[in-house]
Amino acid sequence: MTQAHEQSSLERTITRSNQINAELEKDPQAYRVLTGDRPTGNLHIGHYFGSLANRVRLQELGVDTCILIADYQVITDRDGVGPIKDRVYSLLVDYLAAGIDPAKSMIFIHSAIPALNQLMLPFLSLVSDAELRRNPTVKSELEDAGIPMSGLMLTYPVHQAADILFCKANLVPVGKDQIPHIEMCRVIARRFDERYGRAEPGKPVFPQADALLTSGALILGTDGTKMSKSKGNVIELGMSADETTQTLKKAVTDSDRHITYDPINRPEVANLVALAALCLDSTPEAIAEQIGDGGAGKLKALVTEALNERLRGHREARLELVKDQGYLESVLREGNQRACAIAEKTLDEVRAAMSMAY
Ligand code: TRP
Repeated sequence: MTQAHEQSSLERTITRSNQINAELEKDPQAYRVLTGDRPTGNLHIGHYFGSLANRVRLQELGVDTCILIADYQVITDRDGVGPIKDRVYSLLVDYLAAGIDPAKSMIFIHSAIPALNQLMLPFLSLVSDAELRRNPTVKSELEDAGIPMSGLMLTYPVHQAADILFCKANLVPVGKDQIPHIEMCRVIARRFDERYGRAEPGKPVFPQADALLTSGALILGTDGTKMSKSKGNVIELGMSADETTQTLKKAVTDSDRHITYDPINRPEVANLVALAALCLDSTPEAIAEQIGDGGAGKLKALVTEALNERLRGHREARLELVKDQGYLESVLREGNQRACAIAEKTLDEVRAAMSMAY
């Protein structure tokens, strides 16, 4: 793909995403959303103000929301599963504590939905080796992974198409890096229709899914750089108020006592200002003005109090939820059951379209 081509595809995606964002409020029932996380670590405050808040918003608008814990996708770019079970439950607890209601949103796990995974087989027949190899997101993830390309790494965008299409989702909240995957999902849906046909005349088996673009990192780590556990700059949602206070105490600032909101020249200070604004439903400019000449000390005190206050309910809910493993298991069991029923139905249509219903 040429750069010009990529650019126009990005612009199209942005335009369409904005359009849908406006339509969502008017007609929430026209959409089924599929969103998910890889259980590779614990969620942090970036997720809290970003993807989690957005999912709760969609759920409360009345959009049919499916949330996937993508455990098979953990083994795309690493050579082991890690403490995966703990991470799955940590994700689930954060979903529920943040206000995801399992009666409204379906929470389920890759490895528990055989019929979803089976879609991978016909889907793989619809993409070429060259298409798989030129996916820019896979290329950069391969570089970061530092391990040789596995068959799963190369083909996981096809698996992701199965994630989206098994439940016929037509809207996928993602960051820009995921646009090539959504594009592949659309290609697969189209080619399936062209090559294998339909289960019933007049209606393609799979919809054309759109990206709902979510803004990238709203907040950075406490040193003003991208959050990363190894850098110790992350505030996880599972941390206590005390741990949060300690982490913020170590936050990087600068020597200018006059606090301003200047993300370009003062990224560390700006990040703390932005975080305070998010917690207090204010604007970064208003927060900076409020601190004025109070310096980094006053800024940190404000951020610490505002964040701990904002997360109090989430943390309390978290502590209650982890005490009730039976409930957590039942949420997953029920979500998996619902997802299995949907996946089986879709797979039946796939078999019918492919003349494989024996
Ligand atoms: N790749 C996504 C991430 O890294 C997770 C994911 C898996 C996903 N399957 C998906 C996202 C399907 C959207 C649609 O966070």
